[in-house]
Amino acid sequence: MQSPVELPRIQFACCGFGSSPICLGTCVCYPVARPLRRHCRAVQPFSWHQAGLERLPGREGTVRAGAGSGARPMLNYGRAHQDNITWGAFSMKTKRRKNSRIRALYVRYLRPYIRQDIDRQRIKLPYFVLGYWPLILLKNLSPLDKLRLFWRFLVIDWFIVHAHRPSEISVVCRALSERRAQAGEALLEAGCFNGGSSAKFSVLCSMLGYRLSIYDSFEGVEELSPEEKSESYDFSGEYAASEELVRENIMRYGEISVCSFHKGWFADTLARTRVPYPVRVAYIDCDVAKGTREALHGIVPALVHDGWIFSQDFHITPVVNLLLDEGTWMPLGKGMPIISKLGEQIAGIRFGGPLIAEEAA
Ligand SMILES: C[S@@+](CC[C@H](N)C(=O)[O-])C[C@H]1O[C@@H](n2cnc3c(N)ncnc32)[C@H](O)[C@@H]1O
Repeated sequence: MQSPVELPRIQFACCGFGSSPICLGTCVCYPVARPLRRHCRAVQPFSWHQAGLERLPGREGTVRAGAGSGARPMLNYGRAHQDNITWGAFSMKTKRRKNSRIRALYVRYLRPYIRQDIDRQRIKLPYFVLGYWPLILLKNLSPLDKLRLFWRFLVIDWFIVHAHRPSEISVVCRALSERRAQAGEALLEAGCFNGGSSAKFSVLCSMLGYRLSIYDSFEGVEELSPEEKSESYDFSGEYAASEELVRENIMRYGEISVCSFHKGWFADTLARTRVPYPVRVAYIDCDVAKGTREALHGIVPALVHDGWIFSQDFHITPVVNLLLDEGTWMPLGKGMPIISKLGEQIAGIRFGGPLIAEEAA
């Protein structure tokens, strides 16, 4: 168990304008964020273990400091629409109030009149487009390339129905652009739906020299187990799109030359063996804990030292539980990762990087 002094080392992503994982250390951001009513968007310890926390038995998603640590932090995250943290005298509710009011208005007055998914996506675009602002911060791209990237993302948002938000794509893009590709490195996407996210990633991959490997059943979300069904919304069979459609979309709006396609259930592809190329970034978006676990089996052993894994399903209780469970990671041979919640639905996971290096020093 670590000392109480180290306990408050929680990573904040608090800018409020999007999902920039700006970490200002302990809780410096909070006094700044509160007056602006920009609630901190995400609070996650690097890993429960490193932070000296333990899960409370029988209370999913809740952790507390271990006995003797002196602090009593309680984190309650990822449930429906609230994230709360109490840390001694320090307590806060994270985000979403403003968002949910606007959403409620949209659901009540606008959505009933818009039938097509693509039209709904177009209506929402002016609101969500601000989530692309972190593209300005991308490294290893010229200003013109950033502008081109932004424009192509907008075109994709306009024409392909997808299941992500611009802010989530920006988080992944920032991680990938930390450096250009080295020999054979790839961005791996597990779960592509119509290929909206794939098309976006393919454009950035081609600019930075990465390959894009796309894994999907092309039959929609796998049937959920009864246990998962009881814990979350049942996505079984949703998001089905054929491989031909995805190829066509990427050909039209992305960069097909950097893509490879791996058709099949993750149990038959990713879970079989480690993928045979170095993975710089993996983006898992399959809505199911079972599929996420299977994807991790192929990905984690192939992840490069400064690699990132993103889970786009960090709002789904069984997936959250899976990712926060030590038992998920230990058999994969790299120990417990650092997990940071970087948006409403997305978590970033990494095994190396500056925070760990700093600790080692
Ligand atoms: C939410 S959609 C992906 C959305 C996409 N990333 C986007 O942003 O538009 C989930 C995808 O995961 C795929 N999927 C779910 N479970 C799977 C499994 N066990 N094996 C293979 N593909 C799976 C589905 O076919 C679907 O295309």
